[in-house]
Amino acid sequence: MACEDIWKPQPWFKRAFIANLVDLQDLGPSLLKPGKKQVLIRIHAAAYNYKDKLVVDHSPHYPFKAKVDLVPCLDGAGVVEEAGPCSIAAAVGATVIATSSSDDKLEVAKKLGANHLVNYRKSTDWATQVLQATDGTGVDLVVDVVGAASIEQSLKATRYGGAVVSVGLLSEDPTQKINIMQDVLFGAKTIQGMLGAGSMEQLSELARFMDKH
Ligand SMILES: NC(=O)c1ccc[n+]([C@@H]2O[C@H](COP(=O)([O-])OP(=O)(O)OC[C@H]3O[C@@H](n4cnc5c(N)ncnc54)[C@H](OP(=O)(O)O)[C@@H]3O)[C@@H](O)[C@H]2O)c1
Repeated sequence: MACEDIWKPQPWFKRAFIANLVDLQDLGPSLLKPGKKQVLIRIHAAAYNYKDKLVVDHSPHYPFKAKVDLVPCLDGAGVVEEAGPCSIAAAVGATVIATSSSDDKLEVAKKLGANHLVNYRKSTDWATQVLQATDGTGVDLVVDVVGAASIEQSLKATRYGGAVVSVGLLSEDPTQKINIMQDVLFGAKTIQGMLGAGSMEQLSELARFMDKH
């Protein structure tokens, strides 16, 4: 989803954002030697996102303290020069069902180890496809980056006792009404919010796993 779409409900916000772009500065040469427990990434393109804007403005919509000299860059595309790419879910032995609006992206997901591919633009009831791929059972875990516009489908795609991990809010209308209580209660399902890399323990576990693979 383009940032343009997210801003649609609040056109004044977009104007304010563009005005602030003149304050961006070149901070000189990049760090060439990664420190302990860091990786060196050669960035080819960087985005300045809606969330970056909320952070640097200390917006109450994103209540985290920003450092004084923070460089806002939530998203960048490039190459991790020391670690290289890795498909974690496939490597851990999970059966991966990837959803995308793009068949090209789905082909990439397949190369990275996805077992089933669902184009959610072509199949708007994508949860039914997930159920078909799992013999009607549903998946153990859905990672949901969209929120209001997808949570019903995410829960429907989840097995009895399974979980939806909510990591993002990309819906055009985050206030849209959702109908999930029956599915949560009678499916004994959990919705778990996840911020950042999780706990230190989970991060250490991930680092050990990456080291091994
Ligand atoms: N919890 C955390 O710690 C954490 C960390 C980082 C980011 N986030 C949040 O996670 C979200 C995703 O971040 P991102 O950088 O990956 O964003 P993104 O690049 O804009 O979006 C990721 C993908 O989500 C899919 N998508 C977008 N709108 C959709 C919709 N309405 N229905 C279904 N799929 C949709 C699109 O996939 P296709 O193009 O393949 O269709 C899009 O490329 C953001 O809200 C971000 O703030 C959270």
